[in-house]
Amino acid sequence: MQIIQDPLEMQQIALAVRAAGKRIGVVPTMGFLHAGHLSLVRLARERTDVVILTLFVNPTQFGPKEDLAKYPRDFERDAAQCRVAGVDLLFAPEAGAMYAPDASVYVTEEKLSRGLCGASRPGHFRGVCTVVAKLFNLCLPHVAVFGAKDAQQLRVLRRMTRDLNFPIEIVAGPIIREPDGLAMSSRNVYLSADERQQALVLQSALGEAERLFRAGERAAAPLKTAMEHLIAQAPAAKIDYIEIVDDDSLEPVATLEKPALIALAVFVGKTRLIDNVVLR
Ligand code: PAF
Repeated sequence: MQIIQDPLEMQQIALAVRAAGKRIGVVPTMGFLHAGHLSLVRLARERTDVVILTLFVNPTQFGPKEDLAKYPRDFERDAAQCRVAGVDLLFAPEAGAMYAPDASVYVTEEKLSRGLCGASRPGHFRGVCTVVAKLFNLCLPHVAVFGAKDAQQLRVLRRMTRDLNFPIEIVAGPIIREPDGLAMSSRNVYLSADERQQALVLQSALGEAERLFRAGERAAAPLKTAMEHLIAQAPAAKIDYIEIVDDDSLEPVATLEKPALIALAVFVGKTRLIDNVVLR
């Protein structure tokens, strides 16, 4: 596995790989890899000849009061996991190499990114879209794989890819969960043992909403209320949002007739966790 730090070198290699007629798959990450990321590598591997995993804790997607400085990092462990997973190129640029000091062009998605995490984290999706567009231009992938846990991010990036005509297929990897149901996330490492236990309430709440839906409930309000009641039983949990939205437009729905996304963000202690389910 080759490790590349220089963005221009990354682009030169990607151009050479393409000139040799090979297909490139990219898995953008912020590192501190877990089984969820590695499942995305497998999806890229199945579809392409050369797999690039990008590891970049992107400063532009963190708000001023967020966890950029303390975001978990372990480059050696990540690199070892990438080798075992069969990653061909690990692209790990420095922030200074990715953004010129006077950088002034950003990519903004103006509809899907307004609600949900976009409402709680102003500027977050501008940072995500900007860095992913840059990673697309540097890695020149045919396929890019993103996890379904970041449901809004996945939909925003699909929209960006379509609207900016990137010739890239976006593939979604399913949510990978711990054996007890907690969605895997690099941020789970912040949780104390007690918070880790209480964090199971996210999955229980989504499970309860799904159970009610399967039993015939189609109104969004009772699903939301049931989830709120369940989460209220975990003293360390504080709801950031619970939203039931149309799976395409991400607009809130009052009744679940078309496929609907139930997405939530909950602080467990100081750690903000997200999870979701699509009901059809
Ligand atoms: O999902 C993430 O880890 C990040 O938002 C991404 C897509 C790598 C952009 O920094």
